[in-house]
Amino acid sequence: MLTSRANGNNRTWEVRATRAVNYDVRETSDVLSPHNPTLLIGGRGTSRRFVVVDEVVYASREEQLRAYFEHHGVEARILPVTATEPNKSFELFFSLARELDAFRLNRRTEPIIAIGGGVLTDVVSYVASCYRRGVPCIRVPTTLMGLIDAAIGIKTAVNFDHGKNRIGSFEPPFAAILDRGFLATLPMRHILNGVGEIMKLALIRDAQLFELLEKEGKAAIDDRFQTQGREILRGAIGGMLEELEPNLWEENLERATDFGHTFSPVLEMKDVDGLLHGEAVAIDCAFSVVLSQQRGMITKATSDRALDTMARLGLPLYHPMATPDLFLEGLEERTAHRDGYQRAPMMVDIGKYQFLNDITYEELVSSMRVWEEEAKKRGPTPFTSRAETSRRCCPRRPRPTATAATSRAA
Ligand SMILES: NC(=O)c1ccc[n+]([C@@H]2O[C@H](COP(=O)([O-])OP(=O)(O)OC[C@H]3O[C@@H](n4cnc5c(N)ncnc54)[C@H](O)[C@@H]3O)[C@@H](O)[C@H]2O)c1
Ligand SMILES: [Zn+2]
Repeated sequence: MLTSRANGNNRTWEVRATRAVNYDVRETSDVLSPHNPTLLIGGRGTSRRFVVVDEVVYASREEQLRAYFEHHGVEARILPVTATEPNKSFELFFSLARELDAFRLNRRTEPIIAIGGGVLTDVVSYVASCYRRGVPCIRVPTTLMGLIDAAIGIKTAVNFDHGKNRIGSFEPPFAAILDRGFLATLPMRHILNGVGEIMKLALIRDAQLFELLEKEGKAAIDDRFQTQGREILRGAIGGMLEELEPNLWEENLERATDFGHTFSPVLEMKDVDGLLHGEAVAIDCAFSVVLSQQRGMITKATSDRALDTMARLGLPLYHPMATPDLFLEGLEERTAHRDGYQRAPMMVDIGKYQFLNDITYEELVSSMRVWEEEAKKRGPTPFTSRAETSRRCCPRRPRPTATAATSRAA
């Protein structure tokens, strides 16, 4: 309720309002089957839909998508876009805004539908959060990273100049619709990229999830989570949401989900063309496991168990560009980001953690020596040299082309 009070000769009106955040994360299967109405939630009658889809997904799903909306008598504007990291930009943002104008989107009853990986859902969600100061958006993730992380929280963003996710907003989706069927076509490297984040959650906050990864992780990965690994996915999604819900705007800077995210950002930037985010996170997790063990926070048996499981699942444990100086730089940068304290979540057991604020340079030096030995014991790392990384499949960041046009009408 508005109150006002006198302040000397002046007056202050105190506006105090709260905004509820309500959205559903819904698991479904065969989301593009005409018999599944989930994709049409939030609409009124046979309202229209503006659908933005990752062009790689579109290539194999175009007919199904068109048939879906035709079956339901919904006029759909389906827009395939190139959703790569260099295209996660204001150019794509503006081209989508123009398409929305041309479509004359109704403000409340025609939720935008975003179908793709984290790049696509981040940009489309950001446009939706700004267009007419906010229109509903339904996210349909098609990567493992999207299913367990990018599509289920409230962060949206584009990259700006050299800053990753530099400009964005906190805006909940109308809903996130999860169909693991999309993972059937996802390259194995991107499956493992998502597993890096799942492993992070398991090691730091969920011993049961870790046991599932130990027992069923390999089979689930080989199967791209199609018939196996359902409980792993549910554990990861539920765990991520349990962490997010009480801290949606990241007001509490002590976040368990920051495990694997203390040293990885600098490594990711250092090997910007070679490393995926989830790979850098896995490497950081492995280092952090060794650091905890060196401090006596976990036993050698626990450290071995964690590293053996990561290696067996095919996660990277080590990167040759990591140096104590680089990790110190990362730690200092994160300390600023976390408002002056390291607030580094570190394991005290599988699934249990405490925050550290006193990691020293000397400790980075000594842990790094042990880390390298432990990683080498477990086989060759996929990241042996820059030359090697640039030869691997699925280049992540194709150079931006001169033309900024990123969407084309279907
Ligand atoms: N908003 C958040 O909270 C949040 C959280 C994590 C990551 N992110 C963001 O997500 C982005 C990374 O997302 P990502 O890992 O999903 O990668 P991505 O969106 O770049 O997709 C990876 C690749 O897979 C392709 N692809 C997507 N779905 C496919 C499918 N089903 N079959 C075959 N190919 C498919 C894409 O075209 C792309 O080439 C980063 O920009 C990151 O900043 C955001
Ligand atoms: Zn992450």
